[in-house]
Order: sequence, then C-alpha cells, then structure tokens
Amino acid sequence: MILTTIVRRICFNSRLSMLPRLILLLICIAPSWANAADTQQTLRSLAQARGFHVGTSVDESALQNDRRYAEILAREFTILTPENSLKFSSVHPAPFRYDFDTADKVIAFAQDNEMEIHGHVLVWNEQLPHWLTKGKFSREQLSNILRQHVYHVVGRYRGQIVMWDVVSEAIADDGTLRDTFWLRGIGPDYIQLAFQWAHEADPAAVLIYNDYGGEGLNHKSNKIYKLIKNLLKRGAPIHGVGLQMHISPDLIPNHNAFTKNINRLKNIGLQVHITEMDVRLKKPAGKIQRATQAKIYAEILGSCLSSSSCNSFSLWGFSDKYSWIPEYFPGWGAALIFDESFHPKPAYKALIETLGTK
Ligand code: XIL
Repeated sequence: MILTTIVRRICFNSRLSMLPRLILLLICIAPSWANAADTQQTLRSLAQARGFHVGTSVDESALQNDRRYAEILAREFTILTPENSLKFSSVHPAPFRYDFDTADKVIAFAQDNEMEIHGHVLVWNEQLPHWLTKGKFSREQLSNILRQHVYHVVGRYRGQIVMWDVVSEAIADDGTLRDTFWLRGIGPDYIQLAFQWAHEADPAAVLIYNDYGGEGLNHKSNKIYKLIKNLLKRGAPIHGVGLQMHISPDLIPNHNAFTKNINRLKNIGLQVHITEMDVRLKKPAGKIQRATQAKIYAEILGSCLSSSSCNSFSLWGFSDKYSWIPEYFPGWGAALIFDESFHPKPAYKALIETLGTK
C-alpha cells in the first residue's frame, strides 16, 4: 500500500519534465497490463479449474506452419485430437509400412504443453488406403490385418494416448449397421474384436465408440445405445460414447432429448464425450447468425457440464481458417469459435462464460 503510494507519487510528480514522466508512467502502468494478461481466463484455465477437458482437433499442417495457430492451441485447450494423422491411410500407407512422423509432431506438441491426446480413429469406413480397399482378403486375413494395425498403433502410444476412438460411424442414419468395408470383410464381430484388441494393446486407455447424428433421441441414437449395451453384455471393453456434434442451427439436438440420451448411456456405465463439435452456418453469416451460433455452443456445453457423465467437450477445429466444413458442405462455413484471422467470435465468449458459470 505504502509502496504503491510512493510509486504513484513519483509517477505523477508534476515537477518532472515531460519525457521522464512519460517513461515513468509506462513503467507504472506495465505491471497492471501484465497482470491483466496473466489473469485473463481462457477455455483451458477455466476447464482446468473445474477438472474438465476442453479440446479440439488439430490441423497437422497448420500446427507446423502457422505460429498464431499453435499459440492459441496451447493457450485454450487441454486435450488434442490429431485431425487426420492417425487415420488408417495416414499411419499405415502400405501393407508393411507405418508412418508416425506427423502424428508424433502433434503428440510432442501436446506433451510439451502438458495437454492430453485423444486418438482418432482405429476403425472407420473412410480414409482407408488403396492397398486395403482394393486388395482381396479372406475374413481371416482381414481380421489379422486389423488386429496387427490396432496392436501396432495403440501399442506404440501406450500410456501416451489417454483415449481412443476405436470404432467410428458403424451405424447408418436409418439405424441399421452401416455397410462398411469392415462389415463386409469381417462381419458384425469386427466392432467387438476391435475393442478387445485395443484394450489388449493399452489396458489403461479409455475406449470410445464415436458417431454423428445420435446426440438426441432418435432411430440412430437408439441403435447406438442398443449396440453398445449388447457389446458390454458380451464383455467388450467399451468405456464411452463419442457424440460428434457436427450440427447447424436447423439441426440442433433438443436439450431434454440430449440430456436423456447422455443419462441413459451413463446408466449403463458409460462416459460421454462431445468429440467433434462444430456449428456450420449458411454463408455469408452475419451478426445474427453468429449470435445464434454462440447460443448453440453455450447450450451444448452447458448440458454437458450439468451431466456428471459428460467428461469432455471437443471441437472439430477452432479457427474458421482451418475447417473441413467449406469443402464438405458447399455454401456453409464459419463453423468454429475463432474467425479466419483468429479473432474470438461470440461463440468463444459464450463458451468462456458457460465454463465460468454453469
Ligand atoms: C475430416 C477431416 O476434418 C478432413 O480434413 C478430412 O479430409 C476428412 O475427415 N467425422 C470424423 C472426422 O470423424 O474424422 C472427419 O474429419 C469429420 C467427420
């Protein structure tokens, strides 16, 4: 107190000439600026304070080439999902060749910044290499290939990747088992087998079934629930369900239905993770659309936080500069919480507020 008064007196001493006064003034104000920056709340600081995880997928090339991207990544998030580098075609491009270079860079970044890694994805119908999809394999050969793949990839990161999307998108939108490369080649058992193998390769990893469109209560979420319940009965080591949450303002899960869905999963012993949230907008998106988007982000995070079984909340990217939406949904975009110049959008502020208060 006394010290502050003395400093103030010197700083505002009217007998000093203009230049030294200006310099002194800057010195006086600087600590309060630094303080403001120190105490500024981020998604990361708020999540950590309440023992929760907030994550994002990582565009591997942006991480290596865009310094601003990397800064925000480290500042705002507690868990990272490599966007493409752990997918089958990236990591296992030839029958006897694995390539971990890119994934290793994301993992090293996460470790340097004391963040966790969410592994994505071991068994999916997309981004499979040609050697696999164009090859002719018997059921036994294909299950050997998948077993080796799961052992090798999960085993390599044993103890480093805390959570794995083991199987993604095995259910079609009408609720039937999706007609995938794996279903055709191995049969419906591929799901249970993949979970068993992943568990053998890293018994401590949290193993997730990950899908889209099953967030609320509908045909698809009913089928996901039944499938996982059955697999659990048969002893499959499944620990959680990933709700991807790729949505748009006209496609938001109803709050009650979403909560009921999370709770029924919790009641059979499962964790729930929001794994890939984005809220795409019809372009051009103006102020009103961005405000609506902010409300949607806040509502979903709020519902997740109010349920004890919702353990993490991850986005599919954080800046509109790097988002899969414009390419996959022509005419849509602006789906994330920072704009293309890395300015926080209303959605970012809404998430900060929700994490700090709900
Ligand atoms: C997307 C990536 O973001 C794109 O870069 C890639 O070209 C295609 O895949 N659901 C998933 C993710 O589980 O793996 C998808 O990621 C987006 C939809």
